[in-house]
Amino acid sequence: MKKLFIIGSAALSVFICANCGSSKKAASDAPKLSYEANVQTAITENCSPCHIPSKGGNKRPYDNYANVKSDIDEIIRRINLNPGERGFMPMRKQTKLSDSTIAVFTKWKADGLLEK
Ligand code: HEC
Repeated sequence: MKKLFIIGSAALSVFICANCGSSKKAASDAPKLSYEANVQTAITENCSPCHIPSKGGNKRPYDNYANVKSDIDEIIRRINLNPGERGFMPMRKQTKLSDSTIAVFTKWKADGLLEK
């Protein structure tokens, strides 16, 4: 009887540890965002044509990793302003970017500003 109890609690603790291990793993397994996989599309969709030279934009080019990376704080600041506020981006739009699009920029920064 005592033996059974020991086996039982050993199995239980293995089960608990396996579970806590896998939840930690899930968090660190969440894919990190990268410029090429995530940010580039968000910019092409929302910041054209003004910041995309190939589309005729003559504002600061955000069609390349280096500029977006070096300006990320200013980009995050401006897309979090409200329409009509001085500096709001995307300029002339009546609405802010969606929360999920804003999150692409903030998570990309949190993930370490990876290029790919
Ligand atoms: C309709 C044109 C237009 C669109 C679309 C637009 N911008 Fe801009 N952007 C401008 C203009 C004009 C300026 C320069 C005036 C200023 O600084 O407010 C500017 C300036 C900026 C600056 C400051 C750059 C610097 O030289 O310091 C940032 C950062 C910026 N935009 C980010 C964005 C982002 C991010 C998007 C897309 C989500 C976006 N913009 C969409 C027109 C636009």
